[in-house]
Amino acid sequence: MANVLIIGSDHAGLELKRELAGVATELGYEVRDVGTHTSDSTDYPDYGHQVASAVAAGEGLGLLVCGTGIGMSMTANRHAGVRAALCGDAYSASMARRHNDANVLCVGARVVGPGLAGEILRAFLSASFEGGRHERRVNKIDRTV
Ligand code: RB5
Repeated sequence: MANVLIIGSDHAGLELKRELAGVATELGYEVRDVGTHTSDSTDYPDYGHQVASAVAAGEGLGLLVCGTGIGMSMTANRHAGVRAALCGDAYSASMARRHNDANVLCVGARVVGPGLAGEILRAFLSASFEGGRHERRVNKIDRTV
């Protein structure tokens, strides 16, 4: 069964999301795009919640793109079991998987160019969780405060 990447964006992230879908496809991922599909102005939480719900349900990893990535990461992290990481460099994207078991990558289309964003996505998708002491720490993220 193919690895699945569920992707979403608002209007600000539309173009970069499409480019990153191509990167994920190249890497052998089955890409599911929940929208937006047009450049009409729209609201990022509508897509952030859809992607986060699918990731929380175990359907795959997630990718969310808006202007800064901030609104998307805030939205996705409201979902239990979702660990969304807003990344602007490939090292952070790799470490987000390896140490934080991140399952959603957020990228800001008005912050990083398409070349760097592609490197960030490649780093995210090629890394995996190291477990061990990091598992104990990740488990503590979800405690009720
Ligand atoms: C849209 O103008 C912009 O606010 C949105 O894409 C995002 O950056 C929010 O976090």
